[in-house]
Amino acid sequence: MNKKILVTGGAGFIGSHLVDKLIEEKKHEVFILDNLEEQIHGKSNNPPKYLHKEAKFVKNSVVNYNALKDLVKECEIIFHLGAVVGVGQSMYQIRKYVENNILGTANLLDILVNCEHSVEKLIIASSNTVYGEGKAKCSHCGFVYPLLRDENQLFNKEWEVKCPDCGIEIKPVLTDENNPFNSSSIYALSKQSQEQMGLLIGKTYGINTTVLRFFLVYGPRQAPSNPYTGVCSIFSTRLLNAKPAIIFEDGLQSRDFVHVSDICQALVLAMENDSANGEIFNVGTGTPTTIKEVAEIITEKINPSLNPIFTHQYRIGDIRHCVADISKIKNKLGYKPNINFKEGIDDLINWIRNKEFQIKDKSQNALDELKEKGLLK
Ligand SMILES: NC(=O)c1ccc[n+]([C@@H]2O[C@H](COP(=O)([O-])OP(=O)(O)OC[C@H]3O[C@@H](n4cnc5c(N)ncnc54)[C@H](O)[C@@H]3O)[C@@H](O)[C@H]2O)c1
Ligand SMILES: [Zn+2]
Repeated sequence: MNKKILVTGGAGFIGSHLVDKLIEEKKHEVFILDNLEEQIHGKSNNPPKYLHKEAKFVKNSVVNYNALKDLVKECEIIFHLGAVVGVGQSMYQIRKYVENNILGTANLLDILVNCEHSVEKLIIASSNTVYGEGKAKCSHCGFVYPLLRDENQLFNKEWEVKCPDCGIEIKPVLTDENNPFNSSSIYALSKQSQEQMGLLIGKTYGINTTVLRFFLVYGPRQAPSNPYTGVCSIFSTRLLNAKPAIIFEDGLQSRDFVHVSDICQALVLAMENDSANGEIFNVGTGTPTTIKEVAEIITEKINPSLNPIFTHQYRIGDIRHCVADISKIKNKLGYKPNINFKEGIDDLINWIRNKEFQIKDKSQNALDELKEKGLLK
């Protein structure tokens, strides 16, 4: 049976793919609330060209209570993706991140509790950043949950994580949902708040709420003009502008890169399965990829003559390793990542390449800004 669905942030990278899937494959009726954040969409009052023509688009913010209320009243399912998404930037635009991400979510929950509606389900987009450093194993102490590396260690260019109990170097393992919170940015804290507020209100009032913790998502439509997010689109944009990829630390830090179509698979599974209610799920691939590998793969595909530059600089707050343990979502919802990085990354590169206008590389401005704030050393 087709449903009326609200996707906040539905004009963005992940949201727009979800909207396509909900309309094309699932034949649902989709409403979008998106304020067309300038950093992502430029100065525009019109939704991006890629947005599905059948989606009902409203340009407004989740911070606007009444605008949000009007749409919530229309809908039976809500995907809450609308958020500002720069980790580094959140450390100096604190008010903006708290307002959009925390107050925005507070508005949504307040409406669900206090206004008449027929919402059956709420799905919240969270992030691996709530874990901080991923789970690890110490040869003496067993499994440990390390905190961020301290600045002395980074200053001495000792990049690997050390055991919080005995201090020896430890090996990363897959991070599961029981990992404690260790948010190390205002962005991460805002995602943590979204999760906790959503699950608390959901449980208290019997609103079926699911939290999905996305790892590093990549794919077409990933804002190439936003220098604050997405190492894949930053490297691709630099290389297409004849500049080499810039790598911090020694490049052996590892992440879990997940294609946007696999994220959409997880979002729809969460919507369709009652066993997702009240639960938190990692969404990744379970496969580590180092930043050096990412740079090499993208360089090889775009301009093999431009060798990546290793700056051996580090960013305050950066983690060393975090890769998803996806057993829970596999077992409970039947999720299976379908796309591996080496193949999937072509979709992003081709999309950036085929854009009708020349995409400017603004990554240097972002680095300068971080440096000025003392966040890049
Ligand atoms: N891309 C990733 O790797 C990643 C990883 C983990 C979590 N997430 C989460 O997934 C969601 C979508 O991220 P994305 O990568 O598609 O980013 P995006 O910036 O492409 O999309 C976010 C959309 O939200 C909109 N938006 C921002 N503030 C808003 C507000 N106050 N009201 C309404 N709309 C607003 C923006 O205009 C944009 O269209 C976010 O909640 C983000 O935190 C993304
Ligand atoms: Zn130890």
